[in-house]
Amino acid sequence: MKSTGSGVYSVRFPRLYRPTWVEIDLEALRSNLSRFRRKIGKRPEILFVVKADAYGHGAVEAAKAALSSGLVSCLGVSSVEEGAVLREAGVRGPILILGSLYPFESTLAAIRYRLTPTVASLDGARLIREAERRLKPVERRRLPLACHLKIDTGMGRIGVRGASSRAIIDFLKETPGVSLSGVYTHCPRAEDDAAYTRAQLRRFTKIVSALDVPCVHAANSAAALRFPESRFDLVRPGLAVYGLMPGFTPVLSLKSRVVFLKRVPKGAPISYGGVWRAKRASRIATLPVGYGDGVPRALSGAGKRSSVLIAGRRCPIVGSVTMDMLMVDVTGIGSVDIGAEAVLIGRSGSRSIGAGELAAAAGTISYEIVTGLSARVPRVYRR
Ligand SMILES: Cc1ncc(COP(=O)(O)O)c(C=O)c1O
Repeated sequence: MKSTGSGVYSVRFPRLYRPTWVEIDLEALRSNLSRFRRKIGKRPEILFVVKADAYGHGAVEAAKAALSSGLVSCLGVSSVEEGAVLREAGVRGPILILGSLYPFESTLAAIRYRLTPTVASLDGARLIREAERRLKPVERRRLPLACHLKIDTGMGRIGVRGASSRAIIDFLKETPGVSLSGVYTHCPRAEDDAAYTRAQLRRFTKIVSALDVPCVHAANSAAALRFPESRFDLVRPGLAVYGLMPGFTPVLSLKSRVVFLKRVPKGAPISYGGVWRAKRASRIATLPVGYGDGVPRALSGAGKRSSVLIAGRRCPIVGSVTMDMLMVDVTGIGSVDIGAEAVLIGRSGSRSIGAGELAAAAGTISYEIVTGLSARVPRVYRR
């Protein structure tokens, strides 16, 4: 990791050769965590969800920043691979794999990396028993293997239905080397359907009250903030900590610089397909960022669909977004020069563009925008 001065760090490249980068404000991440903690109270522990490379923010850096705040007691990933990346970077503490494990070699890998698997079916529990039997004597030191049981109360993705949870718990209790340390569910409609979520939480409460498991959890960001009864022993925020919900500070910015400027006459077509033509004599700037970096092609500007900020002014994207570049209309914005900073997500002067705004213009959700920022875009960390 190299310092480039004034507290800015880039993990992948010592300097930027192509002026397009993602900026991550780790201080904002920590202050979002404190704000989240204040809102949910002292009791529930926080599992910070860092799957999909911490929603595009960089899993290792986000996880380390969150753990160093002392506000987070465990991490959530979606796969053995994601957990292994954290372990190999020296991240300690419990890491729950939120996805179901398949096939059973992945259970062995989970044990070797000291990850906590999710059991979502009796078959899953059997795989864990089988994996435990195949451990080499030296690997038995890693036992007992903690695991969490996933109960489906209305998400319809993975998880056992309430009635069969008892049988799986009994099976796991009889499995040597395994300890069932948690039971959880997921609330898919916490943002938009209070009645559905409350009914789900009632069902879940009824199921877990008959079980004797130390850690019960159900809440993502929206559920934890909106439904106190969802907090149980632990909550699992992602979105709020990344500042992608109202009331929290965005952690991620996507920035680039003008690399080419030209004047075009009225009627000039811009980019593939000629879908955009200048309605007047125009000044067009080219930015070295495109759909290969994760800027959705759906933002292609046939009209004033989406814009970037240059010197605090909105400049509409014009013509199709290409793989590596896009064009913006800077007519009448006098201060624009080669090298001018362009903000696709983030703040410039008094204006800002959130991932949510970009998502709405592209017909998607902010999760997809930030997780879609590709690996070729260097992440630069501000501490
Ligand atoms: C099981 C589970 N818990 C928690 C979260 C975090 O959700 P959010 O980012 O909305 O807080 C996710 C995210 O998809 C998830 O799949």
